[in-house]
Amino acid sequence: MRPTIAFLALPIVVHAASFTPEVSLLTDLPHFQGLEKTTIRSVLNIINGKKLKGTPFYFGSTLADPSVAPQNAAWTSARFKDTFNLAVAENNCKWFSNEPAQGVFNLTACASLRDFAFQSGDAFRGHNTFWHSQRPDWLANNTLNFTVEQLNKTIIPNAVQTVIEGLGPRLISWDVVNEAISDGATLGMSLTECVVNASRWPNFAIDGNASSPVLFPDSSFINTAFLNADKARKKIGSDLLLFYNDYNGGGDFPSQAKTECAFKMLTQLKSSGVPIDGIGIQSHYSANPQAFPSKASAHFTMDRLKNIGVMGAITELDVWLPDNSTESLRWQASIFGDILDSCLFSSNCNEFTLWDPRDDESWLDSIVSTGVHMGTLFDASGNPKLPYFEVLARLTNFAQGGAEPCATSGGTSVCVL
Ligand SMILES: *[C@@H]1O[C@H](CO)[C@@H](O)[C@H](O)[C@H]1NC(C)=O
Ligand SMILES: *[C@@H]1O[C@H](CO)[C@@H](O)[C@H](O)[C@H]1NC(C)=O
Ligand SMILES: *[C@@H]1O[C@H](CO)[C@@H](O)[C@H](O)[C@H]1NC(C)=O
Ligand SMILES: *[C@@H]1O[C@H](CO)[C@@H](O)[C@H](O)[C@H]1NC(C)=O
Ligand SMILES: *[C@@H]1O[C@H](CO)[C@@H](O)[C@H](O)[C@H]1NC(C)=O
Ligand SMILES: *[C@@H]1O[C@H](CO)[C@@H](O)[C@H](O)[C@H]1NC(C)=O
Ligand SMILES: *[C@@H]1O[C@H](CO)[C@@H](O)[C@H](O)[C@H]1NC(C)=O
Repeated sequence: MRPTIAFLALPIVVHAASFTPEVSLLTDLPHFQGLEKTTIRSVLNIINGKKLKGTPFYFGSTLADPSVAPQNAAWTSARFKDTFNLAVAENNCKWFSNEPAQGVFNLTACASLRDFAFQSGDAFRGHNTFWHSQRPDWLANNTLNFTVEQLNKTIIPNAVQTVIEGLGPRLISWDVVNEAISDGATLGMSLTECVVNASRWPNFAIDGNASSPVLFPDSSFINTAFLNADKARKKIGSDLLLFYNDYNGGGDFPSQAKTECAFKMLTQLKSSGVPIDGIGIQSHYSANPQAFPSKASAHFTMDRLKNIGVMGAITELDVWLPDNSTESLRWQASIFGDILDSCLFSSNCNEFTLWDPRDDESWLDSIVSTGVHMGTLFDASGNPKLPYFEVLARLTNFAQGGAEPCATSGGTSVCVL
């Protein structure tokens, strides 16, 4: 059974009917044969034991409510011990789950996934404290006629603080605000335009009438969320990181516009004294032409973040397939590998998270109508696939002090390992 809640409108970018480049992979090389004898977790332990990333490097996945795929319980339990060292809740830490009635919080569902992660020796990241989607029914459509002032001074602060304090100091990070930037963003927009242009709650009209005053005329709900998240982490004595998280914003896919909006948000928040520690780059991609960022632009984004003193994180990576051909599977493996390298070889990227651990639990079937999907590292029976072994090879290469591989997803015409 798949998660039934669709949680973002993912633009499907397919520019050409069929063009699949031939690619070169680390797993083709004799040095990286026999990887099935090791595990990702054991390689992560080497990387973290040698402190190759300074602070621990986290390789994670979503964790669904156990009722979503009870038949996979034993597999999940094993993989969160031998593969992942980080977990994030697929749905159970979102606002609708955390505050089912106004002022009445229930953190049980979120906390139980956190505890499962801790018992498996994994870190846990929080997702998320503020999002226009999957907000509670009592907030939807503003039937209770909340004013901007009520939202800004009471409702948002309460929700953000209660949730961060309630989940506690051991979380490594929270996505404080999720998906506030418009898909219609264009280069040169101000931050207010980047956000208000989306016409999403809380920027849309109170009564759904486009001529009526909007709830928030600007992006200041973002300031409120981060200020209160910072208050909460200080109160519980935690050094957890505060992220802004979005899709289509990690470089030049599908354009540079949302990335530029995110940088405007960062610089504006920082210059107003609002604490923000990084940008979560969701990374929902496909093995289609121009449907993922180039490795160079992914690195460039990480470097720009480093230059303004914040972290980048890959927070929701999946790569769906147009078909089940060997060529497409190899391309998919190279895309996973390149995105991993862009994080691994950047000193300011220590979280790399996959959106869904295996194909039969992937949200892709519910939102992508073309292709065969198959966008995770494990097949529908839980067996590791080629991208799993390529990712394991990239981690092994890093652990052994190897140089960064060239941009294999560009095809053998630009890069041969
Ligand atoms: C809180 O949430 C849990 C898990 O979803 C549920 O079992 C429980 O009944 C809820 N508690 C209340 C008081 O609603
Ligand atoms: C909010 O309004 C929309 C559009 O009128 C409707 O589809 C949706 O069901 C409403 N949601 C709630 C929670 O009332
Ligand atoms: C919200 O405002 C509408 C329109 O003024 C009104 O009909 C409705 O009763 C109000 N709802 C509440 C809960 O006050
Ligand atoms: C968003 O911006 C685009 C480009 O400027 C514009 O065409 C569009 O009307 C804007 N949309 C909204 C809802 O403001
Ligand atoms: C929308 O708001 C405008 C301005 O207040 C008003 O004139 C108009 O009648 C409203 N439209 C609807 C469908 O309520
Ligand atoms: C919301 O609160 C923030 C501070 O948290 C403030 O900067 C901003 O002006 C307020 N926004 C509105 C629309 O009142
Ligand atoms: C993909 O192809 C492989 C090998 O031919 C086959 O075993 C598998 O069932 C196929 N999967 C899907 C989802 O078509």
